[in-house]
Amino acid sequence: MIANAPDHLLSLAELSPDDLDGLLALAAEIKSDPAAHDGALRGRTILMHFTKPSTRTRLSFTAAIARLGGTTVFPAPGELQLGRGEPIRDTSRIVSCYCAAVVVRTHAHAEIEEFAWWSAVPVVNALTDLHHPCQALADVLTLRERFGSLEGLEIAYVGDGNNVAHSLIEAGALAGMHLRLACPDGYRPAAVVIDRARVVAGATGGSITVLEDPAEAVTGASAVYTDAFVSMGEDDLRDAKLAALGRYQVDDALMARARPDAVFMHCLPAHRGEEVTDDVIEGPQSIVFDQAGNRLWTAAAVLVRLLSR
Ligand code: CP
Ligand code: NVA
Repeated sequence: MIANAPDHLLSLAELSPDDLDGLLALAAEIKSDPAAHDGALRGRTILMHFTKPSTRTRLSFTAAIARLGGTTVFPAPGELQLGRGEPIRDTSRIVSCYCAAVVVRTHAHAEIEEFAWWSAVPVVNALTDLHHPCQALADVLTLRERFGSLEGLEIAYVGDGNNVAHSLIEAGALAGMHLRLACPDGYRPAAVVIDRARVVAGATGGSITVLEDPAEAVTGASAVYTDAFVSMGEDDLRDAKLAALGRYQVDDALMARARPDAVFMHCLPAHRGEEVTDDVIEGPQSIVFDQAGNRLWTAAAVLVRLLSR
């Protein structure tokens, strides 16, 4: 760490197991006593810089910041000079003069890394092509609420080895969970993410297994997780991805291989008939709206933690 440099949340690889545990405890505390941190962001302005659409992330951060007494600015991408070519390194240094933190959703992960490098204030990753850490925090909070503890929990992720999968892998490794991913050739999670997470899992007692067969991954799991087959910015890959990922759809037959008390998870937005059937996402095992609801409390915990240092 560079002396006096701010902490950021660009991926969960920056956290230790204790950091994750502390963040989840803080999120649970704020959830059970929403007034406990009233005023934590009083007088502070947070820039929300999103170059992709968002419902949950945008609204949960906006609501969390309002509850904590802060103010949000959400310029449309074309309204900042960044959209006319002002360099990220200049934008980042300017924003640091006015804002207490920046929440960024963008395409290339390298862009948010550059933003953070030049920033004098914390930068939070609200989704890049490589990571979605805020989603995974809400996911593991939801799992902890459901099962009491994360350690040793068996989770299956089925489908595209994408940003959501990467952050779930990192969260699972930190929490000592056993993650089995079923992804077709060409759509497996990035080797760099898996290799790093396996080192962490080696210390926490967790494991990461990458398989091809969805049935093998799901058998005996306590949770079955999937995400869109075609992520934002991938419309030109749509036909190829649907062809490769079609047999990874989560349906009743696949869910029946998991434990009887298993839950179905999805970060949303969902594409019914593609990665999941309507019956599963609307069925009794689905906890997708609990995950979405918990985005509010984990967003609040991230900001309180980063801005109280
Ligand atoms: N899950 C999630 O990040 O949703 P949004 O794209 O709506 O923010
Ligand atoms: N993988 C999806 C997640 C959306 C929340 C995407 O990047 O579009």
